[in-house]
Amino acid sequence: MIDALGSVGTLLLVGGTSDIAVATAHRYLRERPLRIVLAARDTPRRDAVAEELRAGGGTVEVVDFDADDPASPQRMVERAFAGGDVDVAVVAFGQLGDEQRLRTDATAVAGLAQVNYVAPVVVGTLLAERMRGQGHGVIVALSSVAGERPRASNFVYGSTKAGMDAFYSGLADSLVGSGASVVVVRPGFVHSKMTAGRPAAPLSITPEAVAAAIVDAVRRGRHTVWVPGVMRAVMSALRHVPRPLFRRLPL
Ligand SMILES: NC(=O)c1ccc[n+]([C@@H]2O[C@H](COP(=O)([O-])OP(=O)(O)OC[C@H]3O[C@@H](n4cnc5c(N)ncnc54)[C@H](OP(=O)(O)O)[C@@H]3O)[C@@H](O)[C@H]2O)c1
Repeated sequence: MIDALGSVGTLLLVGGTSDIAVATAHRYLRERPLRIVLAARDTPRRDAVAEELRAGGGTVEVVDFDADDPASPQRMVERAFAGGDVDVAVVAFGQLGDEQRLRTDATAVAGLAQVNYVAPVVVGTLLAERMRGQGHGVIVALSSVAGERPRASNFVYGSTKAGMDAFYSGLADSLVGSGASVVVVRPGFVHSKMTAGRPAAPLSITPEAVAAAIVDAVRRGRHTVWVPGVMRAVMSALRHVPRPLFRRLPL
């Protein structure tokens, strides 16, 4: 249970090797030791993250999770909640995909839709059911500014984020009065594994900045967060640019 000071007892990271998820765990560990359930694919990086978080004072449990496997979300959620209530669950897994390939390869498109849309909505449904049952808990959904108005250069990724963002926004509304809640987080360009080697977009940020925004949003009970905050105004303006002009923008 999140205590009166907003301190979290158990944190579930779904896509626990994500740079944003790991930074969020470190941010919470700065406040107090906590139980962390690390749900991720079985990789050397998962082992390294588990060790890193233990060294930081976390009691870490590792749970298998693979967004490509339709049976994985149910198993993951059962195992994650077997050890007790979860206060905050961060849904952080996702892929950017190869934009060129995604223009013509239907199998790649289906794969990205599975990882970025189908699996997140299944996970969200299962987490919400558990948190309704607990009568408390916050789901943090990593959406993106890319979903606000998908652009030609990465419209497949943008469309998956638009879909998952709509799902979690609706889920948030459906949970009102249950004790459980959802925070939809919309970062701009984040310097993480996902964007490594790509030129930084304007207003780019670090995983630590996103983590700080997540912890603050959970504490304040916010439902939507843009990171950095100015992205809200930027995307609001971009959303209303007439399409012929939008097509000519170097986005
Ligand atoms: N970076 C950005 O600019 C940015 C901006 C806005 C929103 N976001 C969103 O923020 C979230 C976290 O991204 P990040 O920046 O922290 O990137 P990241 O470090 O690359 O994290 C993404 C994680 O997703 C996991 N993943 C990918 N495919 C998976 C699968 N099939 N099953 C299970 N896990 C899988 C990866 O785990 P493995 O270790 O198994 O590969 C990886 O650690 C994503 O949803 C992303 O779309 C990112």
